[in-house]
Amino acid sequence: MAFDIDLIKKTYAEFEQKVNAARQLLGRPLTYAEKVLYAHLTTPATRPFERGVDYVDFAPDRVAMQDATAQMALLQFMQAGRDKVAVPSTVHCDHLIMAQTGAEEDLKRANAESKEVYDFLASVSNKYGIGFWKPGAGIIHQVVLENYAFPGGMMIGTDSHTVNAGGLGMIAIGVGGADACDVMAGLPWELKMPKLIGVKLTGKLNGWAAPKDIILKVAGILTVKGGTGCIIEYFGEGAQSLSCTGKGTICNMGAEVGATTSTFAYDESMSRYLRATNRADVADLADALAEHLTADPEVYANPEKYFDQLIEINLDELEPHLNGPFTPDLATPISKMKEAAAANGWPTKVEVGLIGSCTNSSYEDISRAVSLAKQVSEKNLKTKAEFTITPGSEQVRYTIERDGFLETFDKIGATVFANACGPCIGMWNRVGAEKKEKNTIVHSFNRNFAKRADGNPNTYAFVASPEIVTALAIAGDLTFNPMTDTLVNEDGVEVKLDPPTGDELPVKGFAVDDPGYQAPAADGSSVQVIVDPNSQRLQLLEPFPAWEGTDLKGLKLLIKVKGKCTTDHISMAGPWLKYRGHLDNISNNLLIGAVNYFNDKTDNVKNQLTGEYGPVPATQRAYKAAGIGSIVVGDENYGEGSSREHAAMEPRHLGVRAVLVKSFARIHETNLKKQGMLALTFANKDDYEKIQEDDTIDIIGLTEFAPGKPLTLVLHHADGTSEEILANHSYNAQQIEWFKAGGALNIIRKQFAG
Ligand code: F3S
Repeated sequence: MAFDIDLIKKTYAEFEQKVNAARQLLGRPLTYAEKVLYAHLTTPATRPFERGVDYVDFAPDRVAMQDATAQMALLQFMQAGRDKVAVPSTVHCDHLIMAQTGAEEDLKRANAESKEVYDFLASVSNKYGIGFWKPGAGIIHQVVLENYAFPGGMMIGTDSHTVNAGGLGMIAIGVGGADACDVMAGLPWELKMPKLIGVKLTGKLNGWAAPKDIILKVAGILTVKGGTGCIIEYFGEGAQSLSCTGKGTICNMGAEVGATTSTFAYDESMSRYLRATNRADVADLADALAEHLTADPEVYANPEKYFDQLIEINLDELEPHLNGPFTPDLATPISKMKEAAAANGWPTKVEVGLIGSCTNSSYEDISRAVSLAKQVSEKNLKTKAEFTITPGSEQVRYTIERDGFLETFDKIGATVFANACGPCIGMWNRVGAEKKEKNTIVHSFNRNFAKRADGNPNTYAFVASPEIVTALAIAGDLTFNPMTDTLVNEDGVEVKLDPPTGDELPVKGFAVDDPGYQAPAADGSSVQVIVDPNSQRLQLLEPFPAWEGTDLKGLKLLIKVKGKCTTDHISMAGPWLKYRGHLDNISNNLLIGAVNYFNDKTDNVKNQLTGEYGPVPATQRAYKAAGIGSIVVGDENYGEGSSREHAAMEPRHLGVRAVLVKSFARIHETNLKKQGMLALTFANKDDYEKIQEDDTIDIIGLTEFAPGKPLTLVLHHADGTSEEILANHSYNAQQIEWFKAGGALNIIRKQFAG
């Protein structure tokens, strides 16, 4: 699984000099996050970047992908024409395993059901030099923390909780598959320079409080949107007192406040963790660079001067929290839960307690939870709720089995699921969930939106530390406060749970038999990537055709979208997820959620060739079959939501040539450009009203397509009249080349073809 020590050496060799240059340029001390950012610019900065305003090109050190998102990322990468990925990359098979009866059987079933997807991911990885973590090896973020994360590094990953690696001092950011593809192909990665939120931690956690409670508290303060566009940097004596994996938990859930990422400066806890996970050489390198792997002293002494926002939390006083239901920012201190549950009518009987996931399955987490499970037999208690564990990696699972923890959990009736996402991503075949009964569960995961864990909209899910989850599962009661309340044991005696205790790292060291890693071939040139042409889940991509070199004439209006149109409206999720690796099949969801301006219906548009109304994808396929291009017209902030590239690839695949809107969400606009589409905005927003249902549209000016120069659209109406309108665009010279080539990947491919 060899992390790339040479890569780390290279990053560190240039780190100090790059940081010094940035300090000089900005003329002030730097936060830790700024140091890592400025150390990863693709070209040296010539002026200070304005936070929250300037777009900046970065060169990340690594890419990580999970199996659901890796499919399209790798299908695109195969188009780039490279022999090998440009930066170290890994694939992790963790999202497609349904938790049902227990690890062994669940894994067997997943291996059979998703065999072709796994085989594809394994062979592409083998061919292009990508490390492959098999199903059952572990959850992407835990495996990354154990093997690849390093202080001062920068990583992108195709999963929003990539941010977990901030626990080991990384700037790690979740992205869409197209971004991952670009970085693997050697292109720069663009990000708006984030704003900075400082969280100063004073005091020290004690008793029942855990690192999870810090982020639960922060979520309550910032709410689900409060971190948007920001990096959260934790510091202070309290930060240094936390374990590295505890820091990982805190950074992981930074995604729940919308933060771009979260991070901690390098400290001894990270050095200990690196050494415990077989990376003493990385720890030695980081130790030698330690003075630069933290903020300049002035920053932490006067944080209000250097952060855009500052939060202070005293860990001495921090109480365990329960966040939920239905949103991770509804924070309730455990002492207030009785009141809150009564006031809101939350069901108080806990049906299931679930620990583990990428968020909370460290050795420390499990050892503290097991210290409570042990008390069940010691105090002659009976566990009232069901209890499940999803270990984050095979290394953790093997080690906790060796140390007898799984046996202790077994005694309280626990089920151990596969080392995978499972219930955290709704891959939980929970018995009875289909009855949709109102019920409460508590878990140590990160998200608790309605239906997320078991598909039941009436499951009230509360997020807590593994310790609190275990205590509440034992009590079977959401309002149980283990700090003050007693339980009645099997002898009718009132007993109190002792506060949890545990080990930050295994005293006997980590152990693992088969970590589940498959190294790529040293020379993958002869490796064949096999995709069954009849597959319903995977489809190799064909390069999109280049621009024909003329103006686009005779485009039919496919749909004039009314109102909100997110990436979910353009490319729905849910049942369509299984087609994420099959562009033609997933294209059957193109714009089916968008409202047609002319009849207020979804998925019902006029086919101009027949005059009949029908579904959007079928209508567009009819235009494609007739060799006629089309245009989509939209409203404000078109394409907001996720960064999923399918929302741009589907229209491109089906022959839409341009998307003309009042305004775009930025990432979707870029995705359209990357795929060789024309992303245009009305120069005069009122012109939206001029678009009629039977319009045929010409786009004029493409032979002189240039940055800042508007294009002209001629609207030919059904009554024989026509009128001209102006369309703006934001293409720079490079992006115009993408358009001409038929997509960014076609350009990359040409480069590598020599
Ligand atoms: Fe998986 Fe849940 Fe983490 S889905 S990656 S365990 S957030």
